[in-house]
Amino acid sequence: MKILVTGGTGYIGSHTCCELLNSGFDVVIVDNLSNSKREVVNKIRIITKKNVTFYKCDVCDKYKLRKIFDREDIQAVIHFAGYKAVGESVKEPLMYYHNNLLSTISLLEVMKEFGCKKIVFSSSATVYGNPQKLPIKEDFPLHTTNPYGSTKLIIEGILKDLYNSDNDWSIAILRYFNPIGAHKSGLIGEDPNGIPNNLMPYIVKVANKQLDVLNVFGSDYKTRDGTGVRDYIHVVDLAKGHIKAIEKVIKDKGIDTYNLGTGRGYSVLELINTFVKVNKIDVPYKIVERRPGDIDMCYASTEKAKKILNWSAKLNIEDMCRDSYNFVVNSKKNKKSGGKHESL
Ligand code: NAD
Ligand code: UFG
Repeated sequence: MKILVTGGTGYIGSHTCCELLNSGFDVVIVDNLSNSKREVVNKIRIITKKNVTFYKCDVCDKYKLRKIFDREDIQAVIHFAGYKAVGESVKEPLMYYHNNLLSTISLLEVMKEFGCKKIVFSSSATVYGNPQKLPIKEDFPLHTTNPYGSTKLIIEGILKDLYNSDNDWSIAILRYFNPIGAHKSGLIGEDPNGIPNNLMPYIVKVANKQLDVLNVFGSDYKTRDGTGVRDYIHVVDLAKGHIKAIEKVIKDKGIDTYNLGTGRGYSVLELINTFVKVNKIDVPYKIVERRPGDIDMCYASTEKAKKILNWSAKLNIEDMCRDSYNFVVNSKKNKKSGGKHESL
Protein backbone atom coordinates (compact mmCIF):
# COMPACT_ATOMS: atom_id res chain seq x y z
CA MET A 1 0.00 0.00 0.00
CA LYS A 2 1.40 3.37 -1.05
CA ILE A 3 1.37 6.32 1.38
CA LEU A 4 2.08 9.92 0.35
CA VAL A 5 4.04 11.74 3.06
CA THR A 6 4.08 15.53 2.70
CA GLY A 7 6.98 17.14 4.59
CA GLY A 8 8.60 13.69 4.59
CA THR A 9 12.19 14.97 4.65
CA GLY A 10 11.48 17.04 7.78
CA TYR A 11 12.17 16.06 11.38
CA ILE A 12 9.04 14.06 12.27
CA GLY A 13 8.30 13.12 8.63
CA SER A 14 11.66 11.42 8.06
CA HIS A 15 11.30 9.25 11.17
CA THR A 16 7.77 8.37 10.14
CA CYS A 17 8.94 7.38 6.63
CA CYS A 18 11.40 4.94 8.24
CA GLU A 19 8.65 3.38 10.37
CA LEU A 20 6.28 3.19 7.38
CA LEU A 21 8.90 1.44 5.22
CA ASN A 22 9.79 -0.93 8.07
CA SER A 23 6.09 -1.76 8.44
CA GLY A 24 5.85 -2.76 4.76
CA PHE A 25 4.25 0.38 3.28
CA ASP A 26 5.51 1.98 0.06
CA VAL A 27 6.36 5.63 0.58
CA VAL A 28 6.21 8.67 -1.71
CA ILE A 29 7.64 11.86 -0.21
CA VAL A 30 6.62 15.34 -1.33
CA ASP A 31 8.65 18.19 0.17
CA ASN A 32 9.79 21.58 -1.12
CA LEU A 33 12.94 21.39 1.06
CA SER A 34 12.15 24.77 2.63
CA ASN A 35 13.20 23.37 6.03
CA SER A 36 14.99 20.11 5.22
CA LYS A 37 17.63 18.63 2.98
CA ARG A 38 17.45 16.29 0.02
CA GLU A 39 20.17 14.07 1.57
CA VAL A 40 17.58 12.91 4.13
CA VAL A 41 15.99 10.79 1.39
CA ASN A 42 19.19 8.80 1.06
CA LYS A 43 19.50 8.47 4.82
CA ILE A 44 16.01 7.00 4.98
CA ARG A 45 17.10 4.49 2.31
CA ILE A 46 20.26 3.65 4.28
CA ILE A 47 18.38 3.17 7.56
CA THR A 48 15.60 1.02 6.11
CA LYS A 49 17.46 -0.60 3.19
CA LYS A 50 14.27 0.13 1.23
CA ASN A 51 13.50 2.42 -1.64
CA VAL A 52 11.48 5.59 -1.28
CA THR A 53 10.23 7.91 -4.01
CA PHE A 54 10.93 11.62 -3.60
CA TYR A 55 9.35 14.59 -5.39
CA LYS A 56 10.63 18.11 -4.75
CA CYS A 57 7.28 19.84 -4.88
CA ASP A 58 5.42 22.55 -3.04
CA VAL A 59 2.17 21.15 -1.66
CA CYS A 60 0.50 24.45 -2.61
CA ASP A 61 1.20 23.55 -6.26
CA LYS A 62 -1.95 21.69 -7.33
CA TYR A 63 -0.73 21.19 -10.87
CA LYS A 64 2.35 19.24 -9.72
CA LEU A 65 0.41 17.42 -7.01
CA ARG A 66 -2.08 16.19 -9.62
CA LYS A 67 0.77 14.82 -11.71
CA ILE A 68 2.08 12.92 -8.69
CA PHE A 69 -1.34 11.47 -7.86
CA ASP A 70 -1.70 10.54 -11.52
CA ARG A 71 1.61 8.70 -11.60
CA GLU A 72 1.51 7.06 -8.15
CA ASP A 73 -1.29 4.92 -6.80
CA ILE A 74 -1.65 6.81 -3.52
CA GLN A 75 -3.95 5.11 -1.00
CA ALA A 76 -3.57 7.46 1.96
CA VAL A 77 -1.71 10.60 3.02
CA ILE A 78 0.20 11.75 6.09
CA HIS A 79 0.37 15.54 5.98
CA PHE A 80 3.34 17.03 7.85
CA ALA A 81 4.25 19.85 5.45
CA GLY A 82 3.99 23.29 6.98
CA TYR A 83 5.84 26.01 8.84
CA LYS A 84 6.13 25.49 12.60
CA ALA A 85 7.98 28.31 14.39
CA VAL A 86 5.70 30.14 16.83
CA GLY A 87 7.82 33.34 17.03
CA GLU A 88 8.22 33.59 13.27
CA SER A 89 4.46 33.15 12.83
CA VAL A 90 3.86 36.22 15.02
CA LYS A 91 6.24 38.26 12.82
CA GLU A 92 5.06 36.82 9.48
CA PRO A 93 1.42 35.77 9.97
CA LEU A 94 0.50 35.96 6.27
CA MET A 95 3.37 33.63 5.36
CA TYR A 96 2.06 31.11 7.91
CA TYR A 97 -1.59 31.37 6.88
CA HIS A 98 -0.58 31.18 3.22
CA ASN A 99 1.68 28.17 3.47
CA ASN A 100 -0.11 26.08 6.09
CA LEU A 101 -3.66 26.69 4.87
CA LEU A 102 -3.08 26.79 1.12
CA SER A 103 -0.97 23.62 1.16
CA THR A 104 -3.65 21.76 3.11
CA ILE A 105 -6.55 22.97 0.95
CA SER A 106 -4.66 22.18 -2.27
CA LEU A 107 -3.79 18.72 -0.99
CA LEU A 108 -7.37 17.95 0.09
CA GLU A 109 -8.76 19.17 -3.24
CA VAL A 110 -6.40 16.94 -5.22
CA MET A 111 -7.06 13.99 -2.89
CA LYS A 112 -10.80 14.46 -3.47
CA GLU A 113 -10.31 14.61 -7.25
CA PHE A 114 -8.47 11.29 -7.14
CA GLY A 115 -10.90 9.64 -4.69
CA CYS A 116 -8.18 9.32 -2.05
CA LYS A 117 -10.00 10.17 1.18
CA LYS A 118 -7.74 8.92 3.96
CA ILE A 119 -5.52 11.39 5.79
CA VAL A 120 -3.51 11.74 8.98
CA PHE A 121 -2.85 15.37 9.93
CA SER A 122 -0.12 16.85 12.18
CA SER A 123 -1.74 19.13 14.70
CA SER A 124 -0.22 20.34 17.94
CA ALA A 125 -0.83 20.60 21.67
CA THR A 126 -0.61 24.34 21.09
CA VAL A 127 -4.35 24.24 20.22
CA TYR A 128 -5.13 23.74 23.95
CA GLY A 129 -3.66 27.17 24.83
CA ASN A 130 -3.24 27.45 28.60
CA PRO A 131 -5.13 24.40 29.88
CA GLN A 132 -7.40 24.76 32.92
CA LYS A 133 -6.75 21.18 34.05
CA LEU A 134 -4.11 18.47 33.64
CA PRO A 135 -3.60 16.00 32.09
CA ILE A 136 -4.98 17.46 28.85
CA LYS A 137 -7.78 15.47 27.23
CA GLU A 138 -8.78 15.68 23.57
CA ASP A 139 -12.19 17.20 24.39
CA PHE A 140 -10.75 20.14 26.39
CA PRO A 141 -11.57 23.67 25.13
CA LEU A 142 -9.37 24.88 22.29
CA HIS A 143 -7.72 28.27 22.18
CA THR A 144 -4.71 29.59 20.32
CA THR A 145 -2.37 32.43 21.14
CA ASN A 146 -0.34 32.78 17.93
CA PRO A 147 -0.83 32.54 14.13
CA TYR A 148 0.95 29.15 13.93
CA GLY A 149 -1.49 27.67 16.45
CA SER A 150 -4.39 29.32 14.64
CA THR A 151 -3.41 27.60 11.36
CA LYS A 152 -3.59 24.24 13.16
CA LEU A 153 -6.99 25.02 14.65
CA ILE A 154 -8.37 26.28 11.33
CA ILE A 155 -7.15 23.13 9.55
CA GLU A 156 -8.74 20.92 12.24
CA GLY A 157 -11.99 22.81 11.50
CA ILE A 158 -11.60 22.37 7.73
CA LEU A 159 -11.12 18.62 8.22
CA LYS A 160 -14.23 18.39 10.42
CA ASP A 161 -16.32 20.32 7.86
CA LEU A 162 -14.97 18.10 5.10
CA TYR A 163 -15.99 14.95 6.93
CA ASN A 164 -19.44 16.40 7.74
CA SER A 165 -19.95 17.10 4.04
CA ASP A 166 -18.82 13.63 2.95
CA ASN A 167 -18.75 10.71 5.41
CA ASP A 168 -16.59 8.72 3.02
CA TRP A 169 -13.46 10.40 4.43
CA SER A 170 -11.23 8.80 7.09
CA ILE A 171 -9.33 11.41 9.07
CA ALA A 172 -7.01 11.24 12.08
CA ILE A 173 -5.90 14.49 13.70
CA LEU A 174 -2.80 13.98 15.83
CA ARG A 175 -1.93 16.57 18.47
CA TYR A 176 1.76 16.22 19.26
CA PHE A 177 3.21 17.31 22.58
CA ASN A 178 6.98 18.08 22.58
CA PRO A 179 8.89 15.82 20.17
CA ILE A 180 12.63 15.47 20.85
CA GLY A 181 15.24 12.71 20.30
CA ALA A 182 16.46 11.23 17.03
CA HIS A 183 16.83 7.92 15.22
CA LYS A 184 19.30 5.67 17.02
CA SER A 185 21.49 5.44 13.89
CA GLY A 186 22.34 9.13 14.37
CA LEU A 187 21.60 9.69 10.68
CA ILE A 188 18.37 11.67 10.98
CA GLY A 189 17.23 14.10 13.65
CA GLU A 190 16.48 17.75 14.25
CA ASP A 191 19.09 20.29 13.23
CA PRO A 192 17.59 23.77 13.01
CA ASN A 193 19.55 26.52 11.28
CA GLY A 194 20.73 29.43 13.44
CA ILE A 195 19.63 29.96 17.04
CA PRO A 196 17.05 27.32 18.02
CA ASN A 197 13.69 28.33 19.50
CA ASN A 198 13.03 25.07 21.29
CA LEU A 199 14.66 23.73 24.41
CA MET A 200 16.31 20.47 23.30
CA PRO A 201 17.97 21.81 20.12
CA TYR A 202 19.30 24.68 22.27
CA ILE A 203 20.67 22.32 24.94
CA VAL A 204 22.38 20.27 22.25
CA LYS A 205 24.05 23.32 20.69
CA VAL A 206 25.33 24.46 24.11
CA ALA A 207 26.66 20.96 24.87
CA ASN A 208 28.33 20.98 21.46
CA LYS A 209 29.90 24.39 22.22
CA GLN A 210 28.12 26.07 19.27
CA LEU A 211 26.39 28.35 21.80
CA ASP A 212 27.82 29.52 25.14
CA VAL A 213 24.97 29.27 27.59
CA LEU A 214 21.38 28.12 27.77
CA ASN A 215 18.82 30.69 28.93
CA VAL A 216 16.24 29.08 31.21
CA PHE A 217 13.10 31.12 30.75
CA GLY A 218 11.74 31.77 34.26
CA SER A 219 12.03 29.99 37.60
CA ASP A 220 8.81 31.22 39.20
CA TYR A 221 6.28 28.97 37.46
CA LYS A 222 3.88 26.95 39.61
CA THR A 223 5.87 23.73 39.14
CA ARG A 224 8.09 21.39 41.21
CA ASP A 225 11.23 23.52 40.73
CA GLY A 226 9.77 26.73 39.27
CA THR A 227 10.73 25.99 35.64
CA GLY A 228 8.23 25.09 32.88
CA VAL A 229 6.99 21.51 32.62
CA ARG A 230 6.36 19.81 29.26
CA ASP A 231 5.48 16.37 27.93
CA TYR A 232 8.58 15.43 25.90
CA ILE A 233 8.08 12.51 23.54
CA HIS A 234 10.72 10.58 21.59
CA VAL A 235 10.31 11.23 17.85
CA VAL A 236 10.54 7.49 17.11
CA ASP A 237 7.61 6.80 19.46
CA LEU A 238 5.74 9.62 17.75
CA ALA A 239 6.52 8.13 14.33
CA LYS A 240 5.18 4.77 15.51
CA GLY A 241 1.96 6.53 16.55
CA HIS A 242 1.53 7.51 12.88
CA ILE A 243 1.65 3.87 11.81
CA LYS A 244 -1.21 3.10 14.19
CA ALA A 245 -3.11 6.17 12.96
CA ILE A 246 -2.66 5.33 9.28
CA GLU A 247 -3.76 1.74 9.92
CA LYS A 248 -6.85 3.10 11.65
CA VAL A 249 -7.80 5.48 8.80
CA ILE A 250 -7.22 2.73 6.26
CA LYS A 251 -9.58 0.44 8.20
CA ASP A 252 -12.34 2.78 9.46
CA LYS A 253 -14.14 5.80 8.07
CA GLY A 254 -14.73 8.76 10.38
CA ILE A 255 -12.82 11.59 12.00
CA ASP A 256 -11.04 11.45 15.33
CA THR A 257 -8.42 13.37 17.29
CA TYR A 258 -5.65 11.88 19.42
CA ASN A 259 -3.03 13.29 21.75
CA LEU A 260 0.44 11.88 21.13
CA GLY A 261 2.49 12.40 24.28
CA THR A 262 3.87 10.27 27.11
CA GLY A 263 1.51 11.58 29.80
CA ARG A 264 4.53 12.62 31.95
CA GLY A 265 5.86 16.10 32.43
CA TYR A 266 9.50 17.11 32.99
CA SER A 267 10.74 20.55 34.00
CA VAL A 268 13.42 22.46 32.13
CA LEU A 269 15.93 21.77 34.93
CA GLU A 270 15.03 18.06 35.01
CA LEU A 271 15.64 17.83 31.27
CA ILE A 272 19.00 19.64 31.53
CA ASN A 273 20.13 17.47 34.47
CA THR A 274 19.15 14.25 32.69
CA PHE A 275 20.96 15.38 29.53
CA VAL A 276 24.13 16.15 31.54
CA LYS A 277 24.00 12.80 33.37
CA VAL A 278 23.28 10.62 30.33
CA ASN A 279 25.79 12.27 27.98
CA LYS A 280 28.40 13.10 30.64
CA ILE A 281 28.77 16.59 29.25
CA ASP A 282 28.36 20.04 30.76
CA VAL A 283 25.45 22.35 29.81
CA PRO A 284 26.04 25.81 31.32
CA TYR A 285 22.78 27.64 31.94
CA LYS A 286 21.44 30.80 33.54
CA ILE A 287 17.97 31.71 34.72
CA VAL A 288 16.49 34.65 32.82
CA GLU A 289 13.07 36.30 32.46
CA ARG A 290 10.02 34.28 31.45
CA ARG A 291 9.45 34.00 27.68
CA PRO A 292 6.17 35.78 26.84
CA GLY A 293 3.34 33.36 26.10
CA ASP A 294 4.84 30.34 27.91
CA ILE A 295 2.62 28.34 30.24
CA ASP A 296 3.46 26.58 33.52
CA MET A 297 2.65 23.01 32.65
CA CYS A 298 1.47 20.92 29.73
CA TYR A 299 1.13 17.16 29.56
CA ALA A 300 -1.20 14.81 27.78
CA SER A 301 -3.85 12.36 28.76
CA THR A 302 -2.78 9.38 26.65
CA GLU A 303 -5.79 7.17 27.35
CA LYS A 304 -7.57 7.71 24.02
CA ALA A 305 -4.55 6.84 21.85
CA LYS A 306 -3.91 3.80 24.05
CA LYS A 307 -7.50 2.60 23.88
CA ILE A 308 -8.36 3.29 20.24
CA LEU A 309 -4.99 3.20 18.44
CA ASN A 310 -3.39 0.67 20.80
CA TRP A 311 -0.38 2.98 20.95
CA SER A 312 1.66 4.30 23.83
CA ALA A 313 5.15 5.80 24.07
CA LYS A 314 7.88 3.37 25.13
CA LEU A 315 11.10 5.38 25.20
CA ASN A 316 12.06 7.38 28.29
CA ILE A 317 13.63 10.76 28.92
CA GLU A 318 17.14 9.22 29.09
CA ASP A 319 16.66 7.72 25.60
CA MET A 320 15.50 11.12 24.32
CA CYS A 321 18.56 12.94 25.77
CA ARG A 322 21.02 10.30 24.53
CA ASP A 323 19.63 10.13 21.00
CA SER A 324 19.32 13.93 20.58
CA TYR A 325 23.01 14.34 21.40
CA ASN A 326 24.12 11.29 19.42
CA PHE A 327 22.58 12.78 16.27
CA VAL A 328 24.58 15.98 16.59
CA VAL A 329 27.84 14.19 17.42
CA ASN A 330 27.30 11.88 14.45
CA SER A 331 26.43 14.77 12.10
CA LYS A 332 29.66 16.53 13.10
CA LYS A 333 31.66 13.35 12.34
CA ASN A 334 29.90 13.04 8.97
CA LYS A 335 30.68 16.63 8.02
CA LYS A 336 34.38 16.16 8.85
CA SER A 337 34.64 12.95 6.86
CA GLY A 338 32.65 14.29 3.89
CA GLY A 339 29.70 12.04 4.63
CA LYS A 340 31.49 8.70 4.68
CA HIS A 341 29.76 7.71 7.92
CA GLU A 342 26.43 7.57 6.14
CA SER A 343 26.53 3.84 5.60
CA LEU A 344 25.40 1.77 8.58
P1 NAD B 1 9.95 20.26 9.83
O1 NAD B 1 10.05 21.70 9.49
O2 NAD B 1 11.20 19.54 10.17
O3 NAD B 1 9.22 19.47 8.64
C1 NAD B 1 8.24 20.06 7.83
C2 NAD B 1 8.62 19.78 6.40
O4 NAD B 1 7.64 20.35 5.53
C3 NAD B 1 9.98 20.37 6.00
O5 NAD B 1 10.77 19.37 5.41
C4 NAD B 1 9.63 21.46 4.97
O6 NAD B 1 10.63 21.57 3.97
C5 NAD B 1 8.30 20.96 4.43
N1 NAD B 1 7.39 21.98 3.91
C6 NAD B 1 6.96 23.12 4.50
N2 NAD B 1 6.08 23.75 3.71
C7 NAD B 1 5.93 23.00 2.58
C8 NAD B 1 5.16 23.10 1.40
N3 NAD B 1 4.35 24.13 1.18
N4 NAD B 1 5.29 22.13 0.47
C9 NAD B 1 6.12 21.09 0.63
N5 NAD B 1 6.86 20.92 1.74
C10 NAD B 1 6.77 21.87 2.71
O7 NAD B 1 8.88 20.15 11.03
P2 NAD B 1 8.52 18.90 11.95
O8 NAD B 1 9.02 19.19 13.33
O9 NAD B 1 8.89 17.63 11.30
O10 NAD B 1 6.94 19.07 12.00
C11 NAD B 1 6.09 18.37 11.12
C12 NAD B 1 4.66 18.80 11.38
O11 NAD B 1 4.34 18.57 12.74
C13 NAD B 1 4.41 20.28 11.10
O12 NAD B 1 3.12 20.41 10.52
C14 NAD B 1 4.41 20.88 12.50
O13 NAD B 1 3.61 22.03 12.57
C15 NAD B 1 3.83 19.74 13.33
N6 NAD B 1 4.24 19.80 14.75
C16 NAD B 1 5.57 19.84 15.07
C17 NAD B 1 5.94 19.93 16.43
C18 NAD B 1 7.40 20.00 16.81
O14 NAD B 1 7.69 20.42 17.93
N7 NAD B 1 8.33 19.59 15.98
C19 NAD B 1 4.97 19.96 17.43
C20 NAD B 1 3.63 19.90 17.05
C21 NAD B 1 3.27 19.82 15.71
N1 UFG C 1 12.82 26.97 27.28
C1 UFG C 1 13.90 27.53 27.93
N2 UFG C 1 14.95 27.97 27.19
C2 UFG C 1 14.98 27.87 25.82
C3 UFG C 1 13.87 27.29 25.17
C4 UFG C 1 12.81 26.86 25.93
O1 UFG C 1 13.91 27.63 29.15
O2 UFG C 1 15.97 28.31 25.21
C5 UFG C 1 11.70 26.43 28.08
C6 UFG C 1 10.35 27.07 27.77
O3 UFG C 1 10.16 28.21 28.56
C7 UFG C 1 9.39 25.91 28.10
C8 UFG C 1 10.19 24.65 27.78
O4 UFG C 1 11.56 25.07 27.76
O5 UFG C 1 9.13 25.91 29.49
C9 UFG C 1 9.84 24.05 26.42
O6 UFG C 1 9.96 25.06 25.41
P1 UFG C 1 9.97 24.71 23.86
O7 UFG C 1 10.18 25.99 23.13
O8 UFG C 1 10.93 23.60 23.59
O9 UFG C 1 8.52 24.10 23.60
P2 UFG C 1 7.08 24.74 23.83
O10 UFG C 1 6.35 23.86 24.79
O11 UFG C 1 7.16 26.17 24.15
O12 UFG C 1 6.43 24.64 22.36
C10 UFG C 1 6.62 23.52 21.50
C11 UFG C 1 6.51 24.00 20.05
C12 UFG C 1 5.11 24.44 19.77
C13 UFG C 1 4.15 23.34 20.09
C14 UFG C 1 4.33 22.90 21.53
C15 UFG C 1 3.44 21.71 21.82
O13 UFG C 1 7.41 25.07 19.81
O14 UFG C 1 4.98 24.73 18.41
O15 UFG C 1 5.68 22.53 21.77
O16 UFG C 1 3.61 20.74 20.85
F1 UFG C 1 2.90 23.77 19.92
